[in-house]
Amino acid sequence: MAHAAGQELRKRYTAADLGVLTRDEARRFVPRGDGDPQNNVVLAWELLYRLEPELYDRLASAERLHPEVVRWLPCDLDRIAEVGAGTGRLTMELVARAQHVVAVEPALPLRRILRRKLAAAEHGDRVQVVRGFFDQLPLPDDSADLVVACSAFTPAPGHGGDAGLAEMERVCRPGGCVAIIWPNHLDWLAARGYRYVSFPGPMSVEFASRREAAELAEIFYPKAADAVRRRGERSVPFEVLGLNPPRDLAFKVLCRPGGATPPNAPARAG
Ligand SMILES: C[S@@+](CC[C@H](N)C(=O)[O-])C[C@H]1O[C@@H](n2cnc3c(N)ncnc32)[C@H](O)[C@@H]1O
Repeated sequence: MAHAAGQELRKRYTAADLGVLTRDEARRFVPRGDGDPQNNVVLAWELLYRLEPELYDRLASAERLHPEVVRWLPCDLDRIAEVGAGTGRLTMELVARAQHVVAVEPALPLRRILRRKLAAAEHGDRVQVVRGFFDQLPLPDDSADLVVACSAFTPAPGHGGDAGLAEMERVCRPGGCVAIIWPNHLDWLAARGYRYVSFPGPMSVEFASRREAAELAEIFYPKAADAVRRRGERSVPFEVLGLNPPRDLAFKVLCRPGGATPPNAPARAG
């Protein structure tokens, strides 16, 4: 979501690759049936998740969240629902914050990687990984204390939109919190009652090695690829890559019936 241009990523796939999408996915991601990943970077990301999921996971593992973002989230919860969980950048942190976590993820290859990671993690059995979409969450009303999405929600109908936000709020219990981590379109969220928090400090993308930094920069940050090679370091500041860091979130604490202020509203709401 944060990698706007994606010219190298777009070159990796063609319209012939769209056959990998299920009917439910195609209905959301190619609504008019004639999409072309060569000129639609959002579609190219969807193909990355399905055709090269391990490549995507290497990138997401390097682009770590600001630790304060995770610390800000409420803890000691009974139930959390995460939407667009991917390969678990946030999910693996949520395990320690609730007894039960449902991780909703449409892309089968990403669900497989997430299940593999959870099988090796302490308390990984607290997480149920399920297929689903923002606009049709397979979860009951008022069933989670926290409903959260990380680098997944956008105002576009195929990736959330008003229907997706309404679904997240339906699943969240009164007094619970809906949080959009690493949000784009802040004005859109503010107009729907979402407040904003951002955490300061230097942040870097932590690639596994110098070689991986150079390789992934070619694909995902081509304008910065020369600079990354010249630096010759595994850790690359987000500014060098021209990417806004995952240091922020937008949230709404849902009113209890009668409109009373929830006693458990996160304390550092900005
Ligand atoms: C950039 S990835 C982020 C994954 C993960 N949350 C993370 O932070 O690493 C975006 C995720 O949103 C998921 N996604 C895309 N469209 C979706 C939709 N309509 N409903 C739910 N998830 C969706 C993708 O499959 C992908 O896993």
